Amino acid sequence: MKIAVVPGSFDPVTLGHLDIIKRASNVFDLVYISILANKGKQHPLFTIPERMELLRRVTKDIDNVVVDTFDGLLVDYAREKKANAIVKGLRAVTDFEYELQMAHINRKLAPDIETMFMMTRGKYSYLSSSIVKEVASYKADISDLVPKEIMPDIYSKLNSNKED
Ligand code: PNS
Repeated sequence: MKIAVVPGSFDPVTLGHLDIIKRASNVFDLVYISILANKGKQHPLFTIPERMELLRRVTKDIDNVVVDTFDGLLVDYAREKKANAIVKGLRAVTDFEYELQMAHINRKLAPDIETMFMMTRGKYSYLSSSIVKEVASYKADISDLVPKEIMPDIYSKLNSNKED
């Protein structure tokens, strides 16, 4: 059985993430979507349990996907899950340098786990969770950026943060 880990912050999941997840699920028998729990980001929009719930909602029709969290080194987690590969999306040249560095360090730490890249679909090449939050914070349309079923969650979270 071939197992992949698709890691990330997913704050929130975008159509770009979902596209990579679907494509990975066509190639691997089992795909863990793994949210980094301890990332030192100052102001995440969604908590880890909320992000898990959003991811579960948008992947409910994909049988071989499991939403999970991890802490610490990605390769330790991948090994624990008996993963053959770490799968990541590459949007543009700007992603490349950072991802190349990550792939090399991860290979050094765990030579048995492959890092595999999927080129993000052209229409999502500009997309990021940060851009989604920026656009939504102005109440502008995010229907081409995130799965429709999580749009209300994003607007209402941003709205409730404003009231805090
Ligand atoms: O969606 P993101 O924020 O770009 O995801 C980044 C992530 C989670 C893939 C990356 O930060 C990560 O792998 N963190 C775990 C720590 C680790 O293993 N770092 C690399 C070796 S030092």
